[in-house]
Amino acid sequence: MRLPEPGTIEIAPSILSADFARLADEIAVVESAGVNIVHLDVMDGHFVPNITIGPPVIAKLRRCSTLAFDCHLMISEPAEYAERFVDAGADHITFHVEAARQPEKLIEKLHHLGCTAGICLNPDTPVDSIRQTAPLCDMVLVMTVNPGFGAQKFIPEAAAKVAPVRQLVGPAIRVEVDGGIDPTTVPTVVSYGADTIVAGNAVFGKKDRIAAINAIRDACK
Ligand code: DX5
Ligand code: ZN
Repeated sequence: MRLPEPGTIEIAPSILSADFARLADEIAVVESAGVNIVHLDVMDGHFVPNITIGPPVIAKLRRCSTLAFDCHLMISEPAEYAERFVDAGADHITFHVEAARQPEKLIEKLHHLGCTAGICLNPDTPVDSIRQTAPLCDMVLVMTVNPGFGAQKFIPEAAAKVAPVRQLVGPAIRVEVDGGIDPTTVPTVVSYGADTIVAGNAVFGKKDRIAAINAIRDACK
């Protein structure tokens, strides 16, 4: 499934805090809560100091879910691997501006492969670094923690970049936030213009995932 058209607020649970031995079941539970997107964190132990999953796991999950697969590549050399993630079943691929050598070319390649494209900014990376590329994307991801681990503390200064990013891209491109999002932090990012809300620990760290998603949804209103 493709990302929903802009204009709605979407909660995208991140499986990073899910039970990796039961990933298909974990995704089925959030699907039953009515989410449209699941956020899949890919880490290579090089761009970030942690290692998660790659295309073989995503390909197996693809058989179990029709949700939009939002693949967040926290990897060096994303252009080298992008096609393998598309083949595995990614619907949307976000790569980091800090990691890409030729971001425009990679966005074009992803579109050519039939995948939507996203560029991502770390907390210390200025909005200026995506001025040319953000308008070419389908979604821009503003990190609100330093990438690599779940359940970190929300960085308000990083979240404040959502407002200028929204101004840069207008209403037709999604703006996603990722890191430290829960019912207490989500109102701020929504007020800045975020419409795609990644939540890992605030969903999969709770016993009742459906109630957790509904609590985040309610806090967006
Ligand atoms: C962090 C990942 C996030 C992570 C967020 O590097 O990109 O997607 O799962 O986790 P929480 O919501 O727990 O901060
Ligand atoms: Zn992520």
